[in-house]
Amino acid sequence: MSRIVYLLNGPNLNLLGKRELHLYGHESLADVQQACAAQAAQLKLSLEFRQSNAESALIDWIHEARERAGGLIINPGAYGHTSIALRDALAACACPILEVHISNVYQREAFRHHSYVSAVAAGVIVGCGTQGYLLALQRIGQVVEGYHAARALKLVAAREQVLLPICAGIHGVLYEELPAAEVVRGLMLRPIKPEFD
Ligand code: DQA
Repeated sequence: MSRIVYLLNGPNLNLLGKRELHLYGHESLADVQQACAAQAAQLKLSLEFRQSNAESALIDWIHEARERAGGLIINPGAYGHTSIALRDALAACACPILEVHISNVYQREAFRHHSYVSAVAAGVIVGCGTQGYLLALQRIGQVVEGYHAARALKLVAAREQVLLPICAGIHGVLYEELPAAEVVRGLMLRPIKPEFD
């Protein structure tokens, strides 16, 4: 599973720190990018941080992420409420997707209560301010680590010819902490989504 994470921002997010400060806060998008880059480095993730006001650019980047990314974080802005095309592009990605909204969209106008993206996202973070991006990165980091731990255990289990739960115990990893894997014939692990390999 790739350690590359795409963090995509949709329309008007280039105006962060300049528009509707009571909703989106005082940080600029450059401030957010800097904080995310630092967090990604700590998590040993390689970050592709991008913003566009154009739906087509976002779709092209999602297609790019489909080929390269181990995780995708998106704040679709208003396109989340309107764009089936964005949803279709995301649905074609095998990697985990997290949707972020800086404001609590559920406290706002009714048209913001529905998102086409949520149905194809593994998780949604709303109303946590720009910290939502950092929380999303942390989550993706954990999923990527879990996947690599599961792969390493698969190798150990095969080599030592022991049942994986016992093997996990010996190596100090709780079996329940391996969400990306399942036991096959008591000996082998294989990824739930083999295309992550
Ligand atoms: C937003 C919420 C959307 O409803 C809005 O159109 C945005 C920003 C957020 O981050 O809170 O542009 O995605």
